[in-house]
Amino acid sequence: MCGIVGYVGKHKVKDILLDGLKELEYRGYDSAGIAVLQEDNFSLYKAVGKLDNLVQKTADFNPEGFAIGIGHTRWATHGKPTELNAHPHLGESSYVVHNGIIENYQEIKKRLQAEGVRFLSQTDTEVIVHLFEHHLKSEPTPFDAFKKTLGELDGAYAILLVTKSLPDTIFFAKNGSPMIIGLAEENEKYFASSDAPLIGHAKEVVYLGDGDYGYVSPNELKIFDYNNNSVKPTLATLPTSKLSAQKEGFRFFMEKEVYEQSAVISDTFIGRIQDDGIVFEELDPALFDGINEVKFCACGTSYHAALASSYLFERYAKIRTSVEIASELRYKEPLLLKDTLFVVISQSGETADTLETLKMAKKAGLKTLVICNVDNSSMVRLADASILTRAGIEKGVASTKAFATQMSVLWMLSLSIAEQRSTLTTEEIKAQIKALRSVPSCVQVTDELHEKIRRLSKRYLHGHGFFFIGRDVFYPLALEGALKLKEITYLHAEGYPSGEMKHGPIAMADPELFTIALMPKGLLYDKTKSNVEELSARDSTICAISPVEFDKADDFIKTHSHDHYMLEFFEMMVVLQLLAMEISVRLGNDVDMPRNLAKSVTVE
Ligand code: AGP
Repeated sequence: MCGIVGYVGKHKVKDILLDGLKELEYRGYDSAGIAVLQEDNFSLYKAVGKLDNLVQKTADFNPEGFAIGIGHTRWATHGKPTELNAHPHLGESSYVVHNGIIENYQEIKKRLQAEGVRFLSQTDTEVIVHLFEHHLKSEPTPFDAFKKTLGELDGAYAILLVTKSLPDTIFFAKNGSPMIIGLAEENEKYFASSDAPLIGHAKEVVYLGDGDYGYVSPNELKIFDYNNNSVKPTLATLPTSKLSAQKEGFRFFMEKEVYEQSAVISDTFIGRIQDDGIVFEELDPALFDGINEVKFCACGTSYHAALASSYLFERYAKIRTSVEIASELRYKEPLLLKDTLFVVISQSGETADTLETLKMAKKAGLKTLVICNVDNSSMVRLADASILTRAGIEKGVASTKAFATQMSVLWMLSLSIAEQRSTLTTEEIKAQIKALRSVPSCVQVTDELHEKIRRLSKRYLHGHGFFFIGRDVFYPLALEGALKLKEITYLHAEGYPSGEMKHGPIAMADPELFTIALMPKGLLYDKTKSNVEELSARDSTICAISPVEFDKADDFIKTHSHDHYMLEFFEMMVVLQLLAMEISVRLGNDVDMPRNLAKSVTVE
């Protein structure tokens, strides 16, 4: 999730921009930059890595007096984290910063290149400033050129643009990515992606809506809506706490990240889902040449994503698929054959065990692929190929949106390989894509669902343990639900294939044993139901999660019927995340930083 700041005024513009970017560090980034326009001169500074690198680069830059400036922290989605790819991006006499993804950037870039425009970066963002300057040549005013530019952009964006042709004005636009305007004394104007950078500076704020655009100058604030009607700004007051501002009103980062899953899954799909197929422009199709097996390797929640995806790979791509726990693979003297594609999955890209297995695979001469949330991480730099999830920074130690975007990428990848191997017809692929497109709506958290789970959680604060049970892909989801519960409530829980109950575990059944039963309607419902009935017949306390009413449940969380079982998977994933979180809240635990755990396990 990139971060954006902007300023119009006569106070210390550099400090205001850098301090603002510091307040946005929690959004995650891998490069940063600022551009300041003062007395018709632009000053531009960019740096890869931590913000301190940018602070050092600007140490001798201390402008005084009136200036306008924009700043940006970049979380790489298109193009590696380099200074060239860092924002702001320059045209001839304008700079732009952008948060979001321009879906149609390739066609705009090709058109502008055909007119002789030279691009310096690999980013989608750079097309904005060149397109603006293209229109500047023919439109009557810079604002008309800005409006015309917006009219050609598809996708999500929060944009700030400054230009020498109007050196006291910042143009802005907001559509799908956050942007707030802060108003202060002495006609100062501030911009930020969230409240935190504005606290202590702005007196009042304007929360822009999707489709809003306009400009600010020392004496003006003009906002227009997507119908080009002038909008009277609605002023609001700022929260007082920066930390609560970073959580954007949620109680915990984990809660915010569960609610963000719909948006980040949509981001992860952008540019990859076409109407009749899946496109991973970052993958060379030759990666799969000579491959007869896929071996996944990961830890923890990422392992659960791997395990769930293995069902999809064998079912749709008809390719032999195996799944390994990294800490086990390291020492079992595995058979690593060159016709195996070795796929590591990692949110951080730094997990020691997983990283070591990647080295083992490379040493054995296997082709390697990493599914990762952090560009430029050790695994991304080491693997032959990488597919980035676009979850943005995940601050909650208990992984949620990273898992959701891993599953989204892996489902798409199974279909992409199925296309290449012709194991699914075009019609079957289209049906899968139709289902994929519904995932973001399936993971939307409703107040009704969250309140139901909050109320129900009070009954699960004791007992001698939990079974989370499911079949097929719902077995790895059961493992994930059990892990979520363990790591933030410290209560004992096990994930189990529901068909395994009678092979021993059912001996534990009694009213103090809680069974969380995943009972999808669209996959093996009757089989699962009979397994759950075995437990309820022996008086285990049952919490059933299903679209189908189940009269033997002590608690029942109703989910929706869907055309595809994977949509039930994603919906039940949210239920399990919220259940673990609400039980943890009732137990008074630190939801975001549970005891004994680290966000990234970089040691054995
Ligand atoms: C997930 O909730 C845990 N925090 C943990 O299991 C995590 O998934 C595991 O350590 C792997 O981390 P990675 O995805 O960054 O490699």
